[in-house]
Amino acid sequence: MSTPITLQVNRMRQDVSVPKETTLLHVLRNDLALNSPKYGCGLGECGACTVLVDGIAARACVIPAHGVAGRSVTTLEGLGTLAALHPVQQAFIDEQAAQCGYCLSGVVMMTVALLSRVPHPTDAQIRSELSGNLCRCGAHLEIIKAVHRAACYLEHPAAQCAAQPPQAVSAA
Ligand code: FES
Ligand code: FES
Repeated sequence: MSTPITLQVNRMRQDVSVPKETTLLHVLRNDLALNSPKYGCGLGECGACTVLVDGIAARACVIPAHGVAGRSVTTLEGLGTLAALHPVQQAFIDEQAAQCGYCLSGVVMMTVALLSRVPHPTDAQIRSELSGNLCRCGAHLEIIKAVHRAACYLEHPAAQCAAQPPQAVSAA
């Protein structure tokens, strides 16, 4: 049985009516046509569906939509626009930190959450934070470089931000 809820998604009010067990990921993709959160495992294990809930990274595939009623949900679509990308989005483009791109939305959202808490993470902190975001393509080195570049973009004009080589190879 469907029951109505009001969500705040990307700073807009959204009224939907869904069963209690419907996941946030289902509502975002199917009801609101926000396709950046991807369905990967559906078990909370791959990170492809990562969004921000009140600024904290969360896996939309295992969260009931009713559980986030009244809270602020942000997807990749809410970060920036094509004309004005979010600095983290721009950094991932500039480091070419994707191959197929399926994991990328989740990785970018995790990075936004990380840099909000730790403005200048070490390679080890980046690897630890992103260890639950599975990238089957193996764009791991570029992802680490992109996080460093994003940290710089958030504080300085882009021209001042040179690429920084990661300290060691590791899965991200
Ligand atoms: S689809 Fe949500 S963690 Fe894999
Ligand atoms: S770029 Fe393809 S899964 Fe990560």
